[in-house]
Order: sequence, then C-alpha cells, then structure tokens
Amino acid sequence: LHIIHIAAEMAPVAKVGGLGDVVSGLSKALQKKGHLVEIILPKYDCMEYDRIGDLKVLDAVVESYFDGHLFKNKIWVGTVEGLPVYFIEPQHPAKFFWRGQFYGEQDDFKRFSFFSRAALELILQAGKNPDIIHCHDWQTAFVVGKHDSYNLRLAPLYWDLYAPKGLNSARVCFTCHNFEYQGTASASELGSCGLDVHQLNRPDRMQDNSGHGRINPVKGAVVFSNIVTTVSPTYAQEVRTPEGGKGLQATLNSHSKKFVGILNGIDTDSWDPSTDNVLEVQYSADDIQGKAENKEALRKQLKLSNGDPMQPLVGCITRLVPQKGVHLIRHAIYRTLELGGQFVLLGSSPVDHIQREFEGIAKKFQSHPDIRLILKYDEVLSHTIYAASDMFIIPSIFEPCGLTQLIAMRYGSIPIVRKTGGLNDSVFDLDDDTIPQQFRNGFTFLSPNEQGLNGALERAFDHYTGDNESWKQLVQRNMKIDFSWDSSAAQYVELYEKSVSRAKATKR
Ligand code: ADP
Ligand code: GLC
Repeated sequence: LHIIHIAAEMAPVAKVGGLGDVVSGLSKALQKKGHLVEIILPKYDCMEYDRIGDLKVLDAVVESYFDGHLFKNKIWVGTVEGLPVYFIEPQHPAKFFWRGQFYGEQDDFKRFSFFSRAALELILQAGKNPDIIHCHDWQTAFVVGKHDSYNLRLAPLYWDLYAPKGLNSARVCFTCHNFEYQGTASASELGSCGLDVHQLNRPDRMQDNSGHGRINPVKGAVVFSNIVTTVSPTYAQEVRTPEGGKGLQATLNSHSKKFVGILNGIDTDSWDPSTDNVLEVQYSADDIQGKAENKEALRKQLKLSNGDPMQPLVGCITRLVPQKGVHLIRHAIYRTLELGGQFVLLGSSPVDHIQREFEGIAKKFQSHPDIRLILKYDEVLSHTIYAASDMFIIPSIFEPCGLTQLIAMRYGSIPIVRKTGGLNDSVFDLDDDTIPQQFRNGFTFLSPNEQGLNGALERAFDHYTGDNESWKQLVQRNMKIDFSWDSSAAQYVELYEKSVSRAKATKR
C-alpha cells in the first residue's frame, strides 16, 4: 500500500506529546512491513533541524487558499528516522508556522486548515496516488474523505475540491488521539478557509453537537472519513458514553461500524535500555544490574540522597494538564514522601496556574533530599528517569492510550495507574486474582481520588520492600513484554486493506 500520513507532530523533530511518537512509530512499522509510507508536516521554525537528513527545498510551489486569496507554499523534503517527510512552509504573511511553538496560537484553526489544504494540493501536484491518506487529530481533520453511504455529489471539506482531480481512489483514515481537543470554531471560520458553510454547518455533518451553531472539525472527520480510529479499545468504548464522549458520543455511536480502538505501540528501537546511549549504563531484561547504577547516577545528578539503594524512586513524566490528574500527581508527591520514597517529576504545563502551582512545589523542595520537580520538556532527562525509577505513576482522569506506562515497563519501572482508557488495556494489577499471573504487571486503582491512589501506591511500596526477588522478576518480565508496533500496525493494515477493497468493489 501507499500510505501518506498528514500530521502536526512527528518525533523526534516535532514532538509535543504522544502524537509525535505515534506518527513516527506507526510509520516506521508500516514501512518495515513493506508499505510505501510518506509523511507531510508543517515546516515549523522550532523543529529539531539537526535530526532531519538531507533537507532540501523542492522546485514545486504549492498554493493554498485563504480569505479569498491563494498563497504559495514552499515544499521541503527530508528524511526523519529513515522515512521520507515533506514539510510545508506557507508564504502567508501571518507566518503560520514561524511562531516559536507548535500549538497554542490564537489562529490555530486558520494555520492548520491552511496546512491541510496545502497537503492535499501537494499530493495532487506531485502526482502521488496514495491508497490511504491517514490524518491525525483535529489539526488535519479538514482533509476528510467521503463516507461510503454518502451518495452526495458534494463531498465534504477539502476532499470535494481534490478528489475529482485525481485523488478519488484514496481512502481516508482519521485517528483521534484525544477527543478533548476537537478544534471547534465559529462557523464563519469555514468561509475564510474556503469551505461551504451552508453545506457543512448542519447537524448531520460538521455542526458541533452543543447546539450553538459552531463547527467541529473532529465531528466532520468522524462523519466523512472512511475509517475512524482511536488509540485504545477501552477509550473507544468510553467515548461512546456521555461521560467520555466530550459531546461526540452520539456521532460516534451512529458511525460505530467504521470506528475502532487500536492500542498504540512504542518505537522499541528508540526506547531500548540495552542500546540507549543517553543512559549512564545500558541494561537488559537478562541483566538488570545497570538499572541500579542509573538510579544512583540520577540521584547524583539531581542532588537527591543516595544512601539507601533500596529506597524506592517514583518517576512521573507528563504534560501537566487536568486530563493527567494533576491534583493526584501533587498528592502522590506528598504521599511518597510519607511512605519513605523518593519522587522525581519531569513535566510542564500549558496552563499558567498549573505551571505556577508546580513551580511553587518545586521551589519548596528545591534542596529536599527526596523530591525533585523539573518543570520543562527534556527528552534526554526523560530517558534517564525511565531507567532510574523503580515505579512510575500515571493517575490520569482519562487517558486515550498513554505511552509512558509502556516506556516505563520497557525500562523496568513498574506502573501505578488509574484504570482508564489505554492504561486499562495495558496495565494489570499484581494483586488481581482474576487475571492470569503472567499478565500482571503493575498496580491499578479506579477511584479518581486520593484514597484510590493511596491504595495502589501503598501496595506498590509493600511489594517493593517485601520481596526483593519477586520484584526483580516482575521488572524482568515487564521488560520482555512486546510493546512494539508490530501487531498494532498489522491491525491498521487490515483496516486499510478492507477499506481499499470495499472501494474497489463498489466501483465495479
Ligand atoms: P500525551 O500525548 O497525552 O502527552 P502520552 O503518554 O501518549 O501522553 O505521551 C507522552 C510522551 O511525551 C512520552 O513520550 C513522554 O516521554 C513525553 N513527555 C511528556 N512530558 C515530557 C517532558 N516534560 N519532557 C520530555 N518528554 C516528555
Ligand atoms: C494523546 C493522548 C495519549 C495518547 C497519545 C498518542 O496525546 O492524550 O493518551 O497516548 O495521544 O496516541
């Protein structure tokens, strides 16, 4: 298959969170299975340019519409992690992607609708004929395709403009990584990006379900794409309920036949403690001695007390947003201290008051022997914390998939998680007799409150201090679990292939 991903992030060059990891991890796995995979990204000023190979500008200039005018885009091509990537650089006066950050701009809707259209224009002008166009999250939801059951001449969104020109045979897969972010905007925005408000601002199409006449790109993508996925089976169930659907539950229920949850994998080459050259000492499931040395090294680096190798170290690496249970993370810091452990948090928040609150806690503990909060994004430090920690805490209120529990297990750090979304599909409680022993890999709790968290954290401490040998075996077992993309990528391929053959069958 020829598969083109259109996305706003791709690790390691443009990463904010898990979306970036998924775009590169899934693409690599698809490529490995023999498919032709290409990626289209915006050309941000804040990318990690030194990790892009052979970057060069192409002669092609692609136009994209905005507010009644066509603006040119320069097209660059380069290699990221062995994958061919196209970068779109708008020549729009608002310098859409030269803002020093990936998201969080007031005109995000304009920036990404412009990008989506330019991506389709690029595919067309370059004469590409993909089988699958795979879009990720609301930023690229404008690209959606045409649902099989829609016999309308008017196809949705930009697809209408481009399909007849030669993209007709491509099928569109839309993956929503988090239904909290739907990109809703006032209907007038549609006009400025060249879309037909009257055709799209309808309850059965792109109109937001809140009833305020706003438009919702994610809803549009759910309605019109050929395949809709999210990133874990449990989350796919949760979002079909009023509690989890963030207003889209009815839409997802009425399009449930094409909607499926596939658990993310991780890129097991980039996340591999036996080859990770950021670590003080590499180690593997067969020889975990090096893990203790990484713990000692991190303690020294962060000036934490280093007297007792058996004092448990709890790690947490996260965006500090309400989804992640920030109040429970704060509580976990204090409870860990009471239990005699050490806590290292690496995180940052786009929400001012949360960032300030954690800065306050960081300051309070800045020379404490057992607590350290590092409030920034730091890829290198993240690797050392996964390797050094004994336990890893993720008390999310909801979690579409979550990658940190998978990475933690790969590095032998035992997850303590709330049972929700992808955490529920990947972490199984050590004390749960209903689960076969060999699948139990961490500690879970259900109630999103301090009591719930205390229960799981305390049990983890009891196990750690109780029986050193069985903890060691748990670490080794977890490190051997296969969290690679292999089987999840195979599930995507199956969906792609079914969709492609369905399209061929209807044409005949
Ligand atoms: P989300 O995408 O919701 O933020 P995920 O668990 O899917 O959550 O993915 C988070 C990714 O971002 C992981 O690769 C994690 O290691 C990384 N990450 C999160 N915060 C930081 C940080 N402050 N520094 C470095 N890496 C981080
Ligand atoms: C989102 C979700 C996270 C998921 C990631 C990658 O950011 O919050 O749970 O792991 O996307 O799919």
